[in-house]
Order: sequence, then C-alpha cells, then structure tokens
Amino acid sequence: MCGIVGYTGRKQAVPILLNGLSKLEYRGYDSAGVAVRSNGRTEVVKAKGRLKVLKKKIGQGEALVGTCGIGHTRWATHGEPSEVNAHPHFNDERTVFAVHNGIIENYSELKAKLIRKGYEFYSQTDTEIAVKLIDYYYKKWNNPIEALVSFTLRVRGSYAIAVLFDDYPEEIYVARKDSPMIIGVSEGETYLASDVPAILKYTRKVYYIGNMEIARLEKGRATFYDVDRNEIQKELTEITWDAEAAEKGGFEHFMMKEIHEQPRVVKDTIGYLVRDGGVNLSEIGLSEEDVKKINGVQIVGCGSAYHAGVVMQYVMESLARLPVRVELASEFRYREPILTEHTLVVVISQSGETADTIAALREAKERGARTLAIVNVVGSTIAREADFVFYTKAGPEISVATTKAYSAQLIAGYLLSIGFASARGLLSRERRDALIASLNKLPDQIAALLKAKNSLQKFATEIAGKKDIFFIGRGIDYAVSLEGSLKLKEISYIHSEAYAAGELKHGTISLIEEGTLVVGILTQETLAEKTMSNMVEVASRGAYLMALAFEGDRSVEGKARFVAFVPKTEPLFAASLSVIPLQILAYYVSVTKGLDVDKPRNLAKSVTVE
Ligand code: F6R
Repeated sequence: MCGIVGYTGRKQAVPILLNGLSKLEYRGYDSAGVAVRSNGRTEVVKAKGRLKVLKKKIGQGEALVGTCGIGHTRWATHGEPSEVNAHPHFNDERTVFAVHNGIIENYSELKAKLIRKGYEFYSQTDTEIAVKLIDYYYKKWNNPIEALVSFTLRVRGSYAIAVLFDDYPEEIYVARKDSPMIIGVSEGETYLASDVPAILKYTRKVYYIGNMEIARLEKGRATFYDVDRNEIQKELTEITWDAEAAEKGGFEHFMMKEIHEQPRVVKDTIGYLVRDGGVNLSEIGLSEEDVKKINGVQIVGCGSAYHAGVVMQYVMESLARLPVRVELASEFRYREPILTEHTLVVVISQSGETADTIAALREAKERGARTLAIVNVVGSTIAREADFVFYTKAGPEISVATTKAYSAQLIAGYLLSIGFASARGLLSRERRDALIASLNKLPDQIAALLKAKNSLQKFATEIAGKKDIFFIGRGIDYAVSLEGSLKLKEISYIHSEAYAAGELKHGTISLIEEGTLVVGILTQETLAEKTMSNMVEVASRGAYLMALAFEGDRSVEGKARFVAFVPKTEPLFAASLSVIPLQILAYYVSVTKGLDVDKPRNLAKSVTVE
C-alpha cells in the first residue's frame, strides 16, 4: 500500500505534494512526510498519523520553499506507525532521500550486507534499507541511473520508489516493479504519483512506467530507461476522467457519493458491451471461436472482488452451463491449480494492483490458461498483463470500502455469462431479450432504492450497539451475504459473519444468543422459504431478525423486526439490488458509531503486498 507523490517544476512543491497526498490518503494513513529541496538543501518533515498532522507541522515550522520534492502517505508493513518509520527515508549524510510503496522481500539479506559495509539504521523499515542500498550504489557509480539499475537488479519484491539526490537538485529519479506509479507532464512541470487522482488537477497527460524501468524526471520532461540502460520511448496517455469524479461532490463521505453513483456506473458498464440487443464480446477482444474453446472457468479475486466472483459463478453456470470454480487469489496462487489452454481464468480487481491477484494471474498464464481481467483502473498491472480486459466503468473509487466497483463487477459477470451462453448456442432469442431488458432496468431500480435510505438509517441506529451480526442466504443470496457482512464489519468494526443458511445448524447456531442480529436474504424464490425456516429457527433462540426480500413478497410479513424490500428483477441479477440496502446499512452504522467511514482502521484501498 502507501501512496507516493513527486513534483519538479516552476511552482512551490509543498502545496502540490500535500494536495496529491490528500488524494492518496486512502492508500494508507499511518503517517505522512515530504522532502523538499529548500534553500540549497533537502528538508524533511514527517508526522505520525493522518496527513492533517503533517500539514499542521509544516504550517508551524519554517516555510518549506522549493520547487522540487517528494511525499508519502504510509500504510505500515515493516515497522510500527511512528515518526521515525515515516517516509521519506535518507542516507547517513542526508544527501539521498526516498519514498517507497511496496515491500523489499530480501531486506534482511540487504541489511546485513549494508551493515558489513558500515551502514547504520535508525528505523525498522525496508525503505531505509532501500535508500541506503541506492546510496551505496550511487557512491560506487557516481550516477543516479546506474544506482537505480543496480538497485533494480539487486532487490526482490515490489516497489515504486522516488529518489532525490542532492547532487541533482531539480531532478527526481524513480524505479518501479509491481507497485503502481504514473508520471504526469505539463509545460515545464513533471509529476509522479501512485494513482491518477493525485495529479489530475495539474495534468491529464501521463506516462505509465513499466516493470523494472527507471526514469529521470526533469522539469517538464521524463526520460525512461530499461535495466540495460537503453532509453525507452513512451507514448503519453490522455486521462479522460473528470477531476470531479474523484471529489466528494456534496456528500459527507466518498462512500455515500460512490453508492449514489451506482445507477450511472451500472448503466455505463452495461453500455460497454450491449449492442443491438445482444452482448458484443468482440469489444473486449473475445471471438465466438475463443468462447467455444473454453471448457471451464476459474475465477479469482480478493475481498469484494472475490464476492463478485461468487455471484458470477452462479450466473455463469446457470446461463452458460460451463463448470466454474471461484477461489481467493491468495489461495489459488499456492494451490498448483490444474489449468489447460481451454480454461479461462477470470481475475477480478478494482485497482488492478492487488498483489495476490496479480500473482494468481501470472500463475494462470504460466500454466497455459487464457486470462481475462475484470478491472477498473485503466493501465493497471492486471489490465496490462491479462490476455483480455473487461474495463468496469466505475471511475475512480476513493472510499476504502468498495461499492460502485463491486456493482460494476457484478454487471461484468452477467454480461460475460450472457455472451458465453449466446456463443455456446444456449440462449433463445426470447430469453436473451428478457435478460437484457432486466439488465437495462437495473439503473432505475437502484436509483429508486437510493431514495429509500431513511428507514435503513433509522434501523442502523437501532443495531449500532450489536456485537455480532450474521448474514444468511442460499445461492446468490449467500453470495450477497458475503459482501453485506464484509461491508458492515470493515467500516463498523462489528463482528459479522456470512453463512450459507443451511450451514448454520452445523455448528454456528450455538453462537446465536438473545438479541444477536441475523439478516436473512430472500430474493431467490425457490430457496427463500428454506432460508426463512432457518430465520424462524434462530428467532426461536433469541435472534433479532432483518429480512431482505423482493417487493410484494408477502411471506416475510410479521416475521422480521425490519424488512428491506428491493424491486423485483431477474433472480440471477438480484445481487445488484439486494447489495444496495446492505451497503447503506453498513454506511449508517459506521456513521452512527462516529467512525471514519472512508478510511477504516488498519485498511488500505489497494493491497499491493501479500
Ligand atoms: C472491501 C474491499 C476489498 C477489496 C479487495 C480487492 O470493501 O474493497 O475487499 O475488494 O482488497 O481489491 P481489488 O479489487 O482492488 O483487487
């Protein structure tokens, strides 16, 4: 995790660095720091805690005047959150400074080597080892590019690293492997950042720096090199996102803003592939022939992306009649999976930078499978490495708890399932038309659900003091339970579990006590009755019930303390509606408890370490 920024140009660096860091705080907020070339030397200011603490500290000290600098917001991996462990880190003489996102895996071995060479260490971070290793090579070669080439060849792990050398006062040197970094340029100015929103205010022209590449950033210019020191020519990419998309737009929190964006996101994601009443897979480079060769689908992802995969498994198996397996990326990568050239491995990721998902994608490619990424961030590692890419149209997602990206991933799963079913000759025209018509209704149905937030807000205040909450359902309702439970626990800090309703009796039911909240999801007509029986069973043991059902479902009447209704839709697409009240409920519980909704403790938006 962590976010890095850098600037060299004609303006004052500090406001640009701090503004960039504020857009990256979702990546980590244990500490923050900047290093700026100021009055002929490099000044470092660091602070434990949120960016606002750093801002205050900078405001109170002597003005950091200078036009070149780097900054960092940290999610602690090596070493506790503290000022000493905060970035930037530096060499003993304070002439080389670095900020880093990623993990240096062979840090112990490198530290031992550097200690033998006489280096001492003041922090517990792998980044201090990285900067001292760069310092060591810089002293050896007397050239920043050579120093970074040697660094790149010597370290194992992941890094996006930006380095200031006092000998090159107006320049920044960067290197990257497996952690995100973009370089932005405008007239006389150059920026670097972990993510686009950090520089969008200043430029829309960016370069993507590749793995094991190094760059020299001068004012208004970036020069790229490979590890053989060859200069690499790169094309500038124009970012088409609206800068507004990364702002709160009048909402108190990004999460609520992003919840409200879902009708648009769902509509745009549907519009990406739906053409002339059918699903046009050629938009993502897949031909009918490609689909016909597939004899099995393996889905991988982490967290909510995995949960979207669980929904996709049900929908794909039902429509396309292909065997589908869904697995956590962190498990898949170490399982020695059996894959063939006829297996399609679908990797799902909002950020496109999740370490385990990247590793799973690489594992799948190595084993000869074809790979398709459902990914949100354009140009991310996963997008660049997969054979086929389905770009979800969620736009930048800032809140750590995903909402709109998950909804877009669901749509991607439906569209691929319809497309595969059509290519395999399994969908009648009537069924296909009915499915597309149901899809097209989803944006308005979600918008209608958003208008009915008040009752959920009220119920949230009733349950905010609960200690344990269980979400239960069968089939797709179970898949949604997984997401509802994660959403609630990650931002409200209430212990919560999702259970396949039929499994409760096999042990977990002993946890039900007087007042335990059990949320039953009941949209799958053929299964709802059974789930309702399980709800009645737990109610008789003291559980406090909430039900989530389709409008017009009379069977829930009088059974639960609170019922949230969602508009009726094709049951295979029910997750797109039933997840909305669960997102809103989680949001209001977090707000009721006065917690930091957008930046829950211990978390970061993209998990770029194992
Ligand atoms: C939960 C959440 C996480 C992510 C997971 C995968 O709200 O956001 O569980 O879904 O870390 O991240 P991506 O999709 O970026 O690979």
